[in-house]
Amino acid sequence: CGIVGYTGKQEAAPIMLEGLKRLEYRGYDSAGIVVSADGELRLTKAKGFVDDLSKKIDGGRLTPGTTGIGHTRWATHGKPSDENAHPHVSCNGKIALVHNGIIENYQKLREMLISKGIEFKSETDTEVAVNLIQYFYKGDIVKAVSEAALRMEGSYALGIICEDFPDLLLATRKESPLILGIGQDENFLASDVAAVLKYTRDIYYLADDEIAVISPKDIKIYSCDLEVVKKEPSRVDWDISAAEKGGYEHFMFKEIMEQPEAVRKTLSPRIKDGRIILDDIELEPDYIKGLSRIYIVGCGSAYHVGVVAKYNMEKLVRIPVEAVLASEFRYASPLVDASTLVICISQSGTTADTIAAMREAKKLGARVLSIVNVVGSVIASESDYCLYTWAGPEIAVATTKAYSTQLAVTYLIALVLAESRGTITSAAYASLVDGLQALPSALEEALKLKEHIQYLASIYFNKENIFFIGRNIDYALTLEASLKLKEISYIHSDAYAAGELKHGTISLIEEGTLVIAMASYIKLVDKTVSNIVEVKSRGAEILTLTTESGLNHVTHTSDNIITIPDIHEVLLPSLAVVPMQLFAYYVALMRGCSIDKPRNLAKSVTVE
Ligand code: G6P
Repeated sequence: CGIVGYTGKQEAAPIMLEGLKRLEYRGYDSAGIVVSADGELRLTKAKGFVDDLSKKIDGGRLTPGTTGIGHTRWATHGKPSDENAHPHVSCNGKIALVHNGIIENYQKLREMLISKGIEFKSETDTEVAVNLIQYFYKGDIVKAVSEAALRMEGSYALGIICEDFPDLLLATRKESPLILGIGQDENFLASDVAAVLKYTRDIYYLADDEIAVISPKDIKIYSCDLEVVKKEPSRVDWDISAAEKGGYEHFMFKEIMEQPEAVRKTLSPRIKDGRIILDDIELEPDYIKGLSRIYIVGCGSAYHVGVVAKYNMEKLVRIPVEAVLASEFRYASPLVDASTLVICISQSGTTADTIAAMREAKKLGARVLSIVNVVGSVIASESDYCLYTWAGPEIAVATTKAYSTQLAVTYLIALVLAESRGTITSAAYASLVDGLQALPSALEEALKLKEHIQYLASIYFNKENIFFIGRNIDYALTLEASLKLKEISYIHSDAYAAGELKHGTISLIEEGTLVIAMASYIKLVDKTVSNIVEVKSRGAEILTLTTESGLNHVTHTSDNIITIPDIHEVLLPSLAVVPMQLFAYYVALMRGCSIDKPRNLAKSVTVE
């Protein structure tokens, strides 16, 4: 979900609508705004996209006023509807609130409030929050917010306005991000910098349990016990163009094309004179030598990066590495102690399951190293070490450049650990560093495949089932290729270790089934070819991805081929993923799908 707030001299509604549009990728089943004007709160909500809300208020012309808060929602509690959309208003109509996250003890609080005579219109935890503030409000709204915050459990980011203070915005948070944008005679509130970049790049990151009181001239930040907190503003170097389509039809395509630059920005400051220097983290040599195990934890594509990294790290670092889904990790009695390194991967840094896994790992005594894109996010700030991916804002729900930059960071970590543990020769180290330096230009080469991929998509876009197979790092890649395709094209697809097919799944292969074979890893290309033959002889059509060196191994068994440039074998997944992203993109385009905002999906999932 996304939050935007504005207070200043301009009309608030158009600014909020624009901010909400930029946040739509965080979830969009309904949207709403409330504006404070002439001593009253004017509320409008609409099921559907921000554009539906905008139509309802004629782009903001029907809701004049210079202070307001808005929200775009991805349903958790309660179905998408006008009624369940935010903002919610307290039962006496004086206070309005928008909320991201979940208030876990809302049932208990609801019962308490009902016993005090407060009436509820919906079943939502958000309505509980706003009524709790009303309950404590005796003229001092800041105190009321702090009293309410002290009693709410769970994760939340709240934006609040009160009729009695027509130009004030209030905000508080716990485990869900909020930033405050600093303007000239105007100030902003948002769940994500993308919403305010057009107006300011100077921001405060609100920390857990802090309360912000925002007026056009001033931003005050308090601790939960209402002590004033002094904070330095941060300057965001993302500029507005990074969060705009810039001539491209879709953010996803733009972000695919930005990958060489994003990977360059992520790698080059960390490679100096042929050496990997991770200035931002200090892993002592003794700690690295004493490591017994590495867990890599993440959700969705971030987890898939972990699976690739598992293969590469075990090969290079020679210790057990396990990639685990964050939602499974914390409930699986993981074998974690002080000799375990837990690597948490997250683009947003706010994914609830990954946050929970990180905290569990720390509780069990491990050190946590995070790979995060959003500066100052929960995972970045709470982990022991953070290596940022410098991908810039990623807007499309289906991740591309974040995946690629995360992968790039895992190579750096593997090299540093391998060198420190003495499991890599200096020649192998040097050759991998050379490969890393060549990676951005190799990515540029891989992107030149786009016309060929578009042609392949035109052949296959009508398929209803697509299977991906591969071995080793190619198998890890099939997971991502399959996810990318299904999330935006709605084609059913699955990923299998190629050698595993014959143990069951081969029964699904029939005449004309498309099997995409990933065969970039030259050491296993012939093994994969045997599996290709197994499905081909049962009627499958075969699209094979291989490298220039692998080409003559696969020609006779493939109906179509995608050839990526040769590169160091550890780095192959970085190149091989690019055509698969493009394939998903073009197939979805040809099927007329909502590419940047696929149905039912949100970019940042802040609920468990
Ligand atoms: C959502 C997104 C995925 C992403 C996953 C993890 O499901 O749609 O693209 O991989 O969350 O997000 P994170 O921000 O933690 O990387």
